[in-house]
Amino acid sequence: MAQLPFNILDQDSDSASGTLHELRRCLLAWYGHNRRDLPWRRTADPYAVWVSEIMLQQTRVAAVLPRYEDFMRNFPSVESLANAAEADVLALWSGLGYYRRARMLHKAAKVVAFEYRGVMPLVAAELRALPGIGAYTSAAIASIAFGEAVAVVDGNVERVVQRLAGWGSESASGQAKLARDVELMANRILDPGRPGDFNQAMMELGATVCLPRNPNCLLCPLEGFCQTRGEHPTRPRAKMRSQDAAYALVVRTGSKGREVLLDQRSDDQSVMPGMWELPGMRDLARPNADVRLSVRHAIMQVNYYVRIHTVFEEDVDEVILPAGRRCWVPLKQLGTLPLTGLARKVLLRAKLAELATVAEVADA
Ligand code: ADE
Repeated sequence: MAQLPFNILDQDSDSASGTLHELRRCLLAWYGHNRRDLPWRRTADPYAVWVSEIMLQQTRVAAVLPRYEDFMRNFPSVESLANAAEADVLALWSGLGYYRRARMLHKAAKVVAFEYRGVMPLVAAELRALPGIGAYTSAAIASIAFGEAVAVVDGNVERVVQRLAGWGSESASGQAKLARDVELMANRILDPGRPGDFNQAMMELGATVCLPRNPNCLLCPLEGFCQTRGEHPTRPRAKMRSQDAAYALVVRTGSKGREVLLDQRSDDQSVMPGMWELPGMRDLARPNADVRLSVRHAIMQVNYYVRIHTVFEEDVDEVILPAGRRCWVPLKQLGTLPLTGLARKVLLRAKLAELATVAEVADA
């Protein structure tokens, strides 16, 4: 098999187009046999594709699967999402993190439902005008749902293209030029007849075979076209910082059964505004004796080492930080609140919550 020539961007020769044809055929055949059976791949509904692509940004497929199904059960159409209360949207996003995505999706759903009469724009350039939809998401939706021949370039695709072409990440001409060349190359190799499948195949190849550290070249359908066969410099892992944190778990039995004390973050916080969390401890160095559990929680480049202390109701004022809005929340209503990822994790680990979905709570 012929490898992709370095200068494929400049040439339009018969041999380059034969190679491209063959590369597309090999990748799509591989995808046909190896594609994961994912719920958003069983529908052509552009709204479903949109929701899945927003959830998949920076988030693994395994984490998205249960949240996607709950979300679509509660908001099966763009109108149902547009008419929902923001708190319910955030509650169903709980655990996925990067809550700005949920707020933007909600905002964009209102634009589509109320300004575009429920009809999504059909092309990537117009999809990009919606809140929260950038180059990557617009290309994914337009190619998968509408068949537009536009390449999706996420981190996985970028790596596959760079390896295929033999371009190092230390490119002499600079990162901006490299990114432009990768995008040009991704569009050049895209199969215009099946752009949605081709894009998903490239992402799938990057996620499952052409891995950053140990690429599985023996299983790769594009091995014969590849300049580097995995011999590609990888970017060093981002350095994580560590930070200690301490929160209180205060539980009582009230008139509505067992309740837990939660604080709401104010609306002007830059991170997770309006979301509910456990109250913070005044003193990080409390004795080990009242530590109920310890968890590590990663947000962006920070590893938080978090200790959760059991606090009795009568000690609240003395040991926990004051908060703007603080409430006793019945355990059975936890599923209706937008919880921070950490609060959700702790309440699940402490077996205080099964975090029923909004629909389940409403039905109860
Ligand atoms: N990552 C993001 N979107 C994807 C998709 N549609 N298929 C595979 N991986 C993805």
